[in-house]
Amino acid sequence: MNTDALEEIDPNDSARLTQLTGGIRELARSAVIDLRRLVFDLRPIALDDLGLAAALRAYANRRLAERGVHVSVETIGMKDRLPSQLETALFRVLQEAINNVAKHARATSVRIELLRMNQDLAAVVLDDGIGFDPSAIHQPTHTGEALGLLGIRERVEMLGGSLNIDSSPGAGTRVHLRVPLADLEGRGL
Ligand SMILES: Nc1ncnc2c1ncn2[C@@H]1O[C@H](COP(=O)(O)OP(=O)(O)OP(=O)(O)O)[C@@H](O)[C@H]1O
Ligand SMILES: [Mg+2]
Repeated sequence: MNTDALEEIDPNDSARLTQLTGGIRELARSAVIDLRRLVFDLRPIALDDLGLAAALRAYANRRLAERGVHVSVETIGMKDRLPSQLETALFRVLQEAINNVAKHARATSVRIELLRMNQDLAAVVLDDGIGFDPSAIHQPTHTGEALGLLGIRERVEMLGGSLNIDSSPGAGTRVHLRVPLADLEGRGL
């Protein structure tokens, strides 16, 4: 309706023009936010069937190995399944780290590690690509719905965990996170 109205208004009526374009911008923005939420809430089928490690392996193979990047996945202590909401959250976080390798790193090899020990889960995505300066990652400009590194940090912190990004230009990138597994029910997982 706004775009229809836009075609019909007097081009000199700048107040109405601002009002209409503002309305369109707001709708587009909220559609993007809704879509991102929807995508994040969807649980990949592979995760249900195979569990976190195998789903990540399948994703990394599709996203990276098929493009000639060597992928290795090492898991320790991952035989038992994790609560499904936690699996989904971790999958999303590591999926984004893998996506970043595919999009930015120009790596020849990637190593993914999942380690469950005592009451902790640690995950690492390590690439030998071009690296970057992590201090250049700033706060989100609006909405806080970032899907990138800021989103990873937000999700890990929501899980009560911690995130480290080690990278420098020319020296590859290591994304390392740790999430406590104690008292998951108490944290709504
Ligand atoms: N593994 C990596 N290797 C090299 N550079 C990286 C890597 N991961 C992230 N970066 C750099 O950090 C920037 C920020 O990453 P981030 O994931 O936040 O955003 P993005 O990937 O550019 O966009 P989005 O994730 O929202 O699609 C990237 O643009 C890229 O320059
Ligand atoms: Mg990204």
